[in-house]
Amino acid sequence: MKRELILVLDFGGQYNQLIARCVRECNVYAEVHPYTLAIEEIKKMNPMGIIFTGGPNSVYEESSPHYDPEILNLGIPVLGICYGSQLMAYMLGGKVTTAPVSEYGRTKVLADTSSKLLHGIDEETDVWMSHTDYIEKVPEGFRITAHSSVCPVAAMENAAKKLYATQFHPEVTHTREGRKILSNFVYTICGCAGDWKIDSFVESKIRQIRDAVGDGRALCALSGGVDSSVAAVLMSKAIGKNLTCVFVDHGLLRKDEGDQVEAVFGPSGKYDLNFIRVNAAQRFYEKLKGAEEPEEKRKIIGEEFIRVFEEEAKKIGAVDFLVQGTIYPDVIESGLGKSAVIKSHHNVGGLPDCVDFKEIIEPLRMLFKDEVRRAGRELGLPAELVSRQPFPGPGLGVRIVGEVTSEKVRIVQEADAIFREEIDKADLPKCPGQYFAALSNMRSVGVMGDFRTYDYAVVLRAVNTTDFMTAECSEIPFEVQQTCMRRIINEVKGVNRVMFDLTSKPPGTIELE
Ligand code: XMP
Repeated sequence: MKRELILVLDFGGQYNQLIARCVRECNVYAEVHPYTLAIEEIKKMNPMGIIFTGGPNSVYEESSPHYDPEILNLGIPVLGICYGSQLMAYMLGGKVTTAPVSEYGRTKVLADTSSKLLHGIDEETDVWMSHTDYIEKVPEGFRITAHSSVCPVAAMENAAKKLYATQFHPEVTHTREGRKILSNFVYTICGCAGDWKIDSFVESKIRQIRDAVGDGRALCALSGGVDSSVAAVLMSKAIGKNLTCVFVDHGLLRKDEGDQVEAVFGPSGKYDLNFIRVNAAQRFYEKLKGAEEPEEKRKIIGEEFIRVFEEEAKKIGAVDFLVQGTIYPDVIESGLGKSAVIKSHHNVGGLPDCVDFKEIIEPLRMLFKDEVRRAGRELGLPAELVSRQPFPGPGLGVRIVGEVTSEKVRIVQEADAIFREEIDKADLPKCPGQYFAALSNMRSVGVMGDFRTYDYAVVLRAVNTTDFMTAECSEIPFEVQQTCMRRIINEVKGVNRVMFDLTSKPPGTIELE
């Protein structure tokens, strides 16, 4: 069966992934592609609709991303958002200029709800604006369907040609009725039926893998995180004992985590998997000796991981396929590809260059994180595993500022276990998206009993975030903070100070390194 597709054409906007996710939440499959995708490719993909994303440029600059105007004549409905709306106007002979007043943030617009796009929303509604240019004059055949006090064309359309545009961002939650607008686009305008459901994805993926792998053997690097766990279980449903999972315990996991992963996936767990646990902590600590710089540590850990994995793969021998838990945000190619590298994230993702496999299988390649979690539930994975917080591939290696030692690992593991226990116990009305302990490289003087101490400062960090791209410090009640501080200092040897990190992202990042 051909799946319905909405194509999101990325012009460098910050919210491109969010657009695709919102469309998928309407049960319609969406993919993000860079604006450099050839029109011939688009025709082959035969999407039910196309969305132009926002972007940082001005349409009238020569170097700005543009597209073949033919795309607007294919008869496929197009929705332009922000830069995408200006581009649509520009391509069709409308006028785009610098607005006398830039609009950033929540704004009220007046909407003509007779528009198919805006049908069913309030006539006065809150939307999220973020622009310095605006459409001054709409192209011929278009009508204005929304405006704000300073933006004459907050939405426009040529319904006969199925072309629609909003200056505001329907995909961000601050646009109160944005979901309704996107749903109008995909259902009423594009005519989608909504065939994207996670259970049908899981079933068809299992069948597809079975066909592709046949009697071949596959190896999966299992970290115990959500993505690789879901990938492993899905693969095992597809090919059973022809799958071997290798779990490398690099000694940088959270307290008891290695045993927990083994309990779920090992011989006493409920999955009938070939499971190999490699206890490689000492090896990693050796390699990390003297390394202080975060990127250097990440590279050492990534490299060593590959070496351990490679050795195991050789022992097993004759493995045709490598399974990776890559997910969609990891693969989306940015339209402009100019974003700066803040950190080189190491998942177990960097493996394939070094080991000799015929093919790589990435069963979750097209899924967003929340969809991976739903797939995990569908596959019967334990709830606590499916809803786990993200944990970086280099583990505590990037939660220990400066050189990593086994002693520091012990401290941060114990402090982290206490902090997580107390937060879970506190049952906060808004649970932080990620919370953990890290170890600053600072030692300071304290007094315990009648003795001088010269010990480490533990940093506690709790953030609210939905996409992990931005984050705000969570509000932790003072009594909970005090309990954590007291317990950590009393129970964790080597700590005499506890600090709470209040920094948001940006300017900070979530992890300390
Ligand atoms: P940052 O620290 O960049 O983190 O704000 C954003 C999210 O990514 C996780 N993270 C990593 N995940 N390998 C990973 O697999 C890494 O090297 C890595 N560094 C950060 C982090 O925990 C947060 O959820």
